[in-house]
Amino acid sequence: ELRGVVALDGPSGTGKSTVARRLASALGASYLDTGAMYRAVTLAVLRAGVDPADAAEVTRVSTAAELVIGTDPHQPTVELDGQDVAAEIRDQPVTLAVSAVSAVPEVRAQLVEQQRRIVARAVDAGSGIVVEGRDIGTVVVPDAGLKVYLTASAEARAERRARQDAAAGRATTVAATRADVERRDTLDATRAVSPARPAADAVEVDTTALDIAGVLGELLTLVDQRG
Ligand code: C5P
Repeated sequence: ELRGVVALDGPSGTGKSTVARRLASALGASYLDTGAMYRAVTLAVLRAGVDPADAAEVTRVSTAAELVIGTDPHQPTVELDGQDVAAEIRDQPVTLAVSAVSAVPEVRAQLVEQQRRIVARAVDAGSGIVVEGRDIGTVVVPDAGLKVYLTASAEARAERRARQDAAAGRATTVAATRADVERRDTLDATRAVSPARPAADAVEVDTTALDIAGVLGELLTLVDQRG
């Protein structure tokens, strides 16, 4: 069992990213956003003009892409081929295509290998790491000391997502966001390779009625008990 490694999985709109960063910061640990990695590869696919459903072409682009991801919870960075893409990977075209790209087995194999190297480095350095995604507890770090699966009602998740989009200046409605959130969840949960699901030994935390501080408090308690 890997002490100091927290696997934080769950669908979008559960507050996962914010909570993961704050938890890492509170623990003095590193932070890894694996969704940002799938998004960056998706951006590379779109820039190359490749169809996200063409697995062979997607694999070719993914293999050639140079992806550098920072692990400082105060300033997470994502670089694609030497360029900062942190903002662009949150835009609508990437969000629409990412589930297709992340369903390609070779893309997952490449990124999981990179993710495991980053986790190993943090463990070796003794800093600990909070890793967020969809398959962290099931595939990437199955021996993580603590596995948490965040959930929330579809309504609550769509509202949070819409608020984030509005704050970032992206035009959407709650209804459109809800449709997108549900579409992406279904694709992520039903893909053949590493479908998004809780690990058998993950602690499920329902965030529907909790604010960020409330979720963070629950996670800190869990880390104290068994992290
Ligand atoms: O977490 P975020 O919403 O940014 O993730 C974007 C997409 O990346 C997800 O909808 C999913 O398709 C993919 N993903 C994944 N495995 C992970 C993290 C993200 O397949 N560990």
